[in-house]
Amino acid sequence: MVSKKANHCKRFLIPLINSTLMRRVKTGVAGFDSLVEGGLLSPGVYMVSGAPGSGKTTFGMHFLLEGARTGERGLYMTLTEDPKNILAAQYRFFPDLIDIVKDNDILFADVREIHQRKFREEISAADKILSLDIRPVSGRDVISLIKTYVEDLGISRLVIDSLAMVGFGSSLNDPAHEALQKGMFVRALKDFDLTVLLISEMLDPDRYGIEHYIVHGIILLHHFLKEDKMIRALQIIKMRGTKHDDNLHPLTISSSGLSVGVSPLRF
Ligand SMILES: Nc1ncnc2c1ncn2[C@@H]1O[C@H](COP(=O)(O)OP(=O)(O)OP(=O)(O)O)[C@@H](O)[C@H]1O
Ligand SMILES: [Mg+2]
Repeated sequence: MVSKKANHCKRFLIPLINSTLMRRVKTGVAGFDSLVEGGLLSPGVYMVSGAPGSGKTTFGMHFLLEGARTGERGLYMTLTEDPKNILAAQYRFFPDLIDIVKDNDILFADVREIHQRKFREEISAADKILSLDIRPVSGRDVISLIKTYVEDLGISRLVIDSLAMVGFGSSLNDPAHEALQKGMFVRALKDFDLTVLLISEMLDPDRYGIEHYIVHGIILLHHFLKEDKMIRALQIIKMRGTKHDDNLHPLTISSSGLSVGVSPLRF
């Protein structure tokens, strides 16, 4: 008979053993995977952060296309942009994207629209005024949608664009409560058997939030001016369980998408 103490130990050991069995999944971004021992550990939650136009959406699309090519269905959740606009822009980089979307190997969820529709129904049922429809999409709303997509559609890869549009505010207006909600959101993402890219707007190194500490990895896309020339670069800020450098690597955006230089940028 297994003692109570042994059972207690088993509870803690099993997750540790499982974590050593994690696999690596390729992002499909040329040059990136070799910087992180072949790919991202899966399951895992990774933040892709950068300035406007730095290539965040394109990074996410490479990642989903790579999944589609290797039999992993992906979901792109947009919280502001209409998926049609994303498709129209990304089709320029990836001409086979439309067929892949038609085959349902990559799905798009217009979270804002889904949320507003649901909320409008609630409002009309309660006979309230439509213009009150200003409630942001909450972390809980997003998690419950993901649960449905995982259970009903068997997705393996997920991109959330973007974290800034998920509402974590509280009526208490308490920063600690907001931080706790963000932390619980990332933890809930980790509980799915998914590889998740969490797109976030530009990272201010002086203002790390709880989410930066909890995610498995942070990929930073830079776009800055040097001697009258705009430079694009990629930097891996952290990648748990993975050997990587913390240099800036040259990043190119061309008609075939993103490409990362293996040798660090020299200044
Ligand atoms: N054919 C191309 N060659 C080089 N660069 C291109 C090409 N097409 C688009 N770009 C650049 O790539 C950028 C698109 O990157 P992307 O949409 O992935 O950035 P983002 O970080 O998601 O932007 P945002 O913050 O607006 O969401 C464009 O803003 C443009 O600067
Ligand atoms: Mg974008």
